Amino acid sequence: MRLREVKLEELKPEEFIERKVWEIRAAVGGGLAVNALSGGVDSSVVTMLAHRALGNRLTTYFIDNGIMREGEPRRVVSLFRSMGVPVRLHNAQKEFFRALKGLRDPEEKREAITRTFYKTVFGALVRRSGARFLLQGTNYTDVEETVAGVKRQHNILEQLGIDTRKRFGYTVIEPIIELRKSGVRAVAKALGLPPEICDRPPFPGPALAARVIGEVTPERVRLVRRATAILEEELATSGAFQFMAILHEDRVTGVRKGRREFGLQIEVRCWNSSDAVVAEPTRLPFETLERLAARITTEVKGVVSVTYNVTRKPPSTMEAV
Ligand code: XMP
Repeated sequence: MRLREVKLEELKPEEFIERKVWEIRAAVGGGLAVNALSGGVDSSVVTMLAHRALGNRLTTYFIDNGIMREGEPRRVVSLFRSMGVPVRLHNAQKEFFRALKGLRDPEEKREAITRTFYKTVFGALVRRSGARFLLQGTNYTDVEETVAGVKRQHNILEQLGIDTRKRFGYTVIEPIIELRKSGVRAVAKALGLPPEICDRPPFPGPALAARVIGEVTPERVRLVRRATAILEEELATSGAFQFMAILHEDRVTGVRKGRREFGLQIEVRCWNSSDAVVAEPTRLPFETLERLAARITTEVKGVVSVTYNVTRKPPSTMEAV
């Protein structure tokens, strides 16, 4: 597919919205469509565009895959309901953890999440709904990174030569594929989405699974989720582009209450960046780092070591998996 980028300088959000609403209506005709909302700015924009275009011919699902942050599913669903968009919350935690069981390789984990989402969970919902169209928030950078082979983004299908109509029975519509994140944020604003969505820091498709090195089990996700909540409290005003807590597999010796504890390690990363293509570690005050270490080692069970990563991207990537 030949894809043209719509740059931020040339983007006219109002016109873009009008064009996309028209295109979605034209593609779906009198049919039914579904989409999945994660609460990220991309899927939020797609949800609003499709809701404007299709009204009750659109069914929006929030799929709880068990690897989201604390309280995320309920928070996102109620926010959209308060804006008049009915969202159905679908619990699929078991399916995702079953698919991730025993997997340790990053690409295999990504592949398992993608497959479970599209084939097992969402595929079944789409089939049950009778919809022939799936709207999703693939953006220009997702395509670029996947085609360049940097990382396999979760939402890339057709660009990898996967015929969704043949394989899953539905046609994919990608309204924001010409935009980068900055453009998507501008459209989000023009759509009237609240700042908590428009300015939401990026969060990866594979969610907290991208921050668990080795096997992704419910227990290991719980640990990284708690550490993430601490970071979000402590670093909310840091001005960083993105920050994350990563659970390592290797254990190290610690000491607690005078006894040796062969415990877990959490790595903290906090990034300055404008486009996520290159990034540098934020120079956090040492007191902040100490507070993070103190809180994580007391509030996250079994953690005896907290490290801060000072590597730039490249050669690092921002996520660890
Ligand atoms: P990386 O780790 O590639 O991340 O430097 C760049 C930005 O993309 C976000 N992001 C993802 N990263 N898999 C990823 O590895 C995904 O599916 C994904 N989705 C988004 C990441 O959080 C960072 O902002």
